Amino acid sequence: MIAVTGANGQLGRLALKHLQNLTTEPLRALVRSPEKAQDLASAHVSVVKGDYDDPESLRAALAGVDRLLLISGSEVGKRVAQHAAVIEAAKAAGVRFITYTSLLNVPHSSLVLAAEHVETEQRLADSGIAHAVLRNGWYLENFAGTVAAALAHGAVVGASGNGRFSAAGRSDYAEAAARVIAGDDLSTRALDLGGQPAFTLADLAAELSRQSGRDIPFNNLPEDTYAGILVEAGLPDGFAKALADADRGAAAGELETASTALEDLTGHPARTLGDFVAETLATSQVADNAA
Ligand SMILES: NC(=O)c1ccc[n+]([C@@H]2O[C@H](COP(=O)([O-])OP(=O)(O)OC[C@H]3O[C@@H](n4cnc5c(N)ncnc54)[C@H](OP(=O)(O)O)[C@@H]3O)[C@@H](O)[C@H]2O)c1
Repeated sequence: MIAVTGANGQLGRLALKHLQNLTTEPLRALVRSPEKAQDLASAHVSVVKGDYDDPESLRAALAGVDRLLLISGSEVGKRVAQHAAVIEAAKAAGVRFITYTSLLNVPHSSLVLAAEHVETEQRLADSGIAHAVLRNGWYLENFAGTVAAALAHGAVVGASGNGRFSAAGRSDYAEAAARVIAGDDLSTRALDLGGQPAFTLADLAAELSRQSGRDIPFNNLPEDTYAGILVEAGLPDGFAKALADADRGAAAGELETASTALEDLTGHPARTLGDFVAETLATSQVADNAA
């Protein structure tokens, strides 16, 4: 039995999809609200309550589970306790192997978002359960807002300077996670995952200009100014600051990797910047035509 936490999220759903193609082992989807995830249920997949804030639900959900894909939670600030509750429940249930979705370049990353991943990786090490840590780079999809704002206002804005992002599609990371959790290698290890080649926001602006036929420059801003723009655009203050801080880290090379582990695991190149821009432009044109 392979279980997946956060299974109703975007990465979780993609991981389950890949797992259904990779294995005939029974799959268990742990979700916060089973009533919202019934579409995931099938002869192959059972859907059960697994709320990170409810240790009782985790203990029941992990009974009989052999391998666990722990997808990091989305509630920044609460995640160490939440992940620790999952790891404790996994230990009690006799789970043999855990795969955890961490952040690229942990434990050396200075990103504010890194701290909870560092702590979770330590909890995994302390648990004694064999585990693979997948240190995921940025999702290409994180740039959807950047592209939408650039199309509306005529410039890509950010605070990452000449820093490069080794980004890949969410589905690439999900496939890698599925292959590791369903694979034969149950050894403890950590892998840096990211797409190649890495790109700067100037590269993103150039690709967007090329594909849209418009002249869209990259305007690099101070971190605080960029965070303020994100707040004005409607992002919650803490999230805006975390994104601007991530750009600061990217400027220092912290969201870049030379590792080819992602495509080694999946067996194919990851989604590229060009693919992402093309698909985003196509979606925005469909939306424009519908408006
Ligand atoms: N590398 C990157 O660029 C990047 C970017 C964004 C996020 N991340 C990390 O990767 C994770 C997966 O990304 P994603 O795109 O799939 O995020 P997502 O779509 O927001 O999914 C997060 C999932 O976590 C679930 N969740 C939140 N709190 C929970 C709780 N207390 N108990 C059980 N489940 C809970 C949510 O459940 P509900 O469906 O009930 O809301 C949701 O299904 C994120 O949570 C975050 O840690 C990485």
